[in-house]
Amino acid sequence: MNKTDKIKFLRLLYQYRAMGFEYFYDYKPSKKFETTTYLSNDLEAIAKSVKGCYLCNLAKNRKNTVFGEGNIHAKVMFIGEAPGANEDEMGKPFVGRAGQLLTKIIENVLQLQRKDVYIANVIKCRPPENRVPTPEEVGECKPYLLQQIKLISPQIIVALGATSFHHLTGEYDTPISKIRGEVLEFAGAKLIPTYHPSFLLRNPSAKKDVFEDMLKVKAML
Ligand code: URA
Repeated sequence: MNKTDKIKFLRLLYQYRAMGFEYFYDYKPSKKFETTTYLSNDLEAIAKSVKGCYLCNLAKNRKNTVFGEGNIHAKVMFIGEAPGANEDEMGKPFVGRAGQLLTKIIENVLQLQRKDVYIANVIKCRPPENRVPTPEEVGECKPYLLQQIKLISPQIIVALGATSFHHLTGEYDTPISKIRGEVLEFAGAKLIPTYHPSFLLRNPSAKKDVFEDMLKVKAML
């Protein structure tokens, strides 16, 4: 874990303690790609289920669920962490400042239109104060994402940031700074982890790394 991830994790533990938790079970999801048979094979039907989902507490405070959007036959699928305030307001992924940067990356580096790719998040509802999703929240929500991946069946998945990479792969001990730009296998697709656009807004010097990673994606299209 890098320093930022440690701070985020510690903050999460304090939040748990404030909520009355004394311990929680170690969460180690399977590294295998498991989809669920109980979810529909129709993306619109799953989006509808997500709209009516109350499996975790995030449902209480959301304005909108943020299922994902884009080309359902996309070759490239981007997976972020969780909706923020703008996304919660509009019900669409990556529409705030980080989203504008992501759109620029798609257009300028991949030379695709945003509507040509598919964009989703690990979880579909905004966590309060944009905190990192808890393992339980991810546990409840991840089946929706796995079914989305199965149905879209992209050639390339870009995991945006540590939370996305960690929860997709179960490789919690691998820092994003070490794994970014590697071409891995996941769910029959190539998985390329890279930095999250929000991280780039805070650390513009990392843009060159993402540029390099996206050139790899472009070469594989
Ligand atoms: N950050 C994310 O991870 N996802 C969004 O949709 C917006 C910001």
